[in-house]
Amino acid sequence: MKLSLSILNADFSRLLSTLERLADLVDYIHFDVMDGHFVPNLTFGPVLPNSLREKIALPFDIHLMVDRPAFYAPRFRVRPEDVLVFHVEALDPPDEALAAIKELGCRVGLSLRPRTPLAVLAPFLDEVDWVLLMSVEPGFGGQTFLPESLERLRELRRLVGTRPITLAVDGGIGPQNVRDVLAAGAEVVVVGAAIFHASDPREALLNLWRAAGYPRN
Ligand code: DX5
Ligand code: ZN
Repeated sequence: MKLSLSILNADFSRLLSTLERLADLVDYIHFDVMDGHFVPNLTFGPVLPNSLREKIALPFDIHLMVDRPAFYAPRFRVRPEDVLVFHVEALDPPDEALAAIKELGCRVGLSLRPRTPLAVLAPFLDEVDWVLLMSVEPGFGGQTFLPESLERLRELRRLVGTRPITLAVDGGIGPQNVRDVLAAGAEVVVVGAAIFHASDPREALLNLWRAAGYPRN
């Protein structure tokens, strides 16, 4: 298991020190970029990941919930190991978003909403490094995991076949279901509320690794 820590529910007034304190228990930092159009919520644009980029060694997993991913992608300062993820349902044609992200020299990810048929991914699977399956409706942290996501994940696994694509799952994951998500084929779990709604985020991360069957200390 790789763990991508979603900062959406973190205390932004002390974000850097929080991330430094948790970095050894995390594989990626997940940034939820929301434009108020693609989803009914506003978060932050490139300024936040860009300002943290030189201060944190971990790779960034940047989840673009925006209508115009091709237009905004070039504004992110990324490293080759970072992943810039856009939604197949966005307004910009996926081909344009793919090309814009590849131009940056980082990895490219494709995401889809819980009700979007997996088949829409098929034409792009040879072009992407990462697929992010949403297990909640995008827009807000702290929602309940949609149980049908497990079957979707198994189906996605079959669809991806032997292609070198990392499968990530985002939304409603915590100690109660992390094992099921891994068993269904996830390699990366994105976790936010289960860590940042806890009184001790570090303890919550240790608990999550334990629940996943990979105890850490
Ligand atoms: C939802 C976001 C998620 C969210 C993570 O639109 O994409 O990344 O913060 O889910 P929770 O908070 O449920 O772990
Ligand atoms: Zn996300």
